[in-house]
Amino acid sequence: MIPINILYVTSEACPFAKTGGLGDVAGSLPPAIKKHGYDIRVVLPLHRHIKERYMKGMEQIAQFNIHLGWRNQYAGVFQLKYGDIIFYFIDNEYYFNRDNIYGEFDDGERYAYFSKAVAILSKVIDFKPDIIHTNDWHTALVNLYIKDLRIGDSYYNDIKTVFTIHNIKYQGVYDAWMLSDILGLSPKRYFNDDGIKFYDKINYMKAGIVYCDVLTTVSKTYAEEIKHQFFGEKLEGIIRKEEFKLTGIINGIDYDIYNPQNDRYIEYNYNYGNLNNKFKNKGVIQKLYGLDVRDNVPILAMITRMSSIKGIDLLKHILDELMLEDVQLIVLGTGDKEYEDMFKYYEYYYPNRIAARVYFSEREAHKIYAGADMLLMPSMMEPCGISQLIALRYGTIPVVRETGGLKDTITSYNKFTKEGNGFSFKNYNAHELLFTIKNAVDIYRNNEKDWNGLILNAMESKNDWGASSLEYIGLYNKLYGVKYV
Ligand code: GLC
Repeated sequence: MIPINILYVTSEACPFAKTGGLGDVAGSLPPAIKKHGYDIRVVLPLHRHIKERYMKGMEQIAQFNIHLGWRNQYAGVFQLKYGDIIFYFIDNEYYFNRDNIYGEFDDGERYAYFSKAVAILSKVIDFKPDIIHTNDWHTALVNLYIKDLRIGDSYYNDIKTVFTIHNIKYQGVYDAWMLSDILGLSPKRYFNDDGIKFYDKINYMKAGIVYCDVLTTVSKTYAEEIKHQFFGEKLEGIIRKEEFKLTGIINGIDYDIYNPQNDRYIEYNYNYGNLNNKFKNKGVIQKLYGLDVRDNVPILAMITRMSSIKGIDLLKHILDELMLEDVQLIVLGTGDKEYEDMFKYYEYYYPNRIAARVYFSEREAHKIYAGADMLLMPSMMEPCGISQLIALRYGTIPVVRETGGLKDTITSYNKFTKEGNGFSFKNYNAHELLFTIKNAVDIYRNNEKDWNGLILNAMESKNDWGASSLEYIGLYNKLYGVKYV
C-alpha cells in the first residue's frame, strides 16, 4: 500500500453540521477510507451550528492570513479527533458565525475564502496532502487555486485534486465583476489582453469540473445523465468535454449508525431473524402520529426535502386517487411552502390516515424507517439518494423512479423469480407512480409470504461503504502515480 495522505474538503459533515446528503457522505466516507490505512483528514468551516460539546474538545493549532483581493482575512485552524478521523475547522467569525450554512447574501465570498484557506492550509499545519478531495460548488474553487498556486510555487506540483459532484443543480454562479477581485486570481483569467471583460459570470462548479484532476459523481447513472441537457443544467457540454476524467461511484451509508438491530431511536430492535419486531414498530408510529392503529394497512412514508426535484408534484397529482386505497401516509421534512401547505391540507382532509410533519427530526426519521412498509421516492432527479439506502437496511420497501442512484440501487420486484428489492417506474408520470404503488400494495395485501421475502431481499442489499470506498482508493492510487512538472 502506498501511504497516501488525503484532505477531504466539505462545507458540511456529520455530526458537526448537516443540511443534506453531503453531510452524511462527508461524515461516513472518510472513516471507511481510513480503515484501509490511508491518512484521510477532513476540513470544514467552523460554522456557528457546531454543538458546544464538540467545540469544547477542539484545540487551535494554527492561524494565518489570507488575501482576498485587497482584503486581509484571518483564518484560525482548530483540530478535533472524532472517532478515527482528524477534523480541521477553519475559523473566521465574520464568514461563519452566521445563521445559515448556505443562503447568506455573500455565499460566493464566504466559500471563496474557505477554498483559499484550504489551499494554503497544509503550509501551516503538519499534514501535506497528496490528494485534496473537494465536494460540490462550495469547495470547487480549491481545484482552481491549487492549479493557480502551482504557477510559481513547486510545493503544489505534487498535490492532486479530486472533485465530486453531489448535485449539479447548485453551481454557485456569481457576477464576475463582483468576485474577480475577491478571488484574487490572475486577472488574465477574467480579462483578455486588451483588458476587455472576458467572462460575465463566474461559475464555481464549472471551475471545479475544469480544474480538477479527477472528477466523480455519486452514481454511475447520474454520471451518464449529466452529459445530457435535462440533467446537465447547462454544464452538459463541459461534462462531455471532461468525461475522460469522470467516474460515477455510488454512495454508501454508515451501517453502524443505521442498524435496526441496535438503533436506540427505535422501540423494537430487529434483524432478518425476527421481522415480527419490525412490525411492532408500526404501531409505535401510528400512535405517535395519530393514525389508526392497525397492522394490516400499509404505511407509505416520505422522508424528504420538499422540493420539486423530489417528485412531489407526481404525488400531488394522484394523492386523492391513492387514498381510495386502504393506505396510510407519513411525510417528514421541510422545504417549499407550497408543498408544506399541501401536505398539511391533506392531513386535515384525511384525518387518521395522513400525517404531515413539517420539520426534521433524526429520531423520528429512524422510527419511520423502522415502522413504515414502503418509502416513496419518485424523484425527478436524484444523483444518489440516501433515504432509499436507509430504508433497505430497515426492510422498508423503496418505491422509486428510475433515475440516478435510485436506478443503480433499486431493482424492481419480479413476482415470478421473487428477485428485487423494491419497486420502480421509468417515466416522470403521476399515473406510473400510482400504478407502481398499487402493484406494491397488491403484493403487500394478498401475498404475505412474497412481501416478507421482499423485505429480506431489501435487508440483504449491501450498501455500506465497503465497495465504494475501495473505488475511491483505486482513483487515489491511480492519481498518486501521476507526476506533474
Ligand atoms: C445530494 C444529492 C443526493 C445525494 C447527496 C449525497 O444531496 O441530491 O442525491 O445522495 O448529495 O451525495
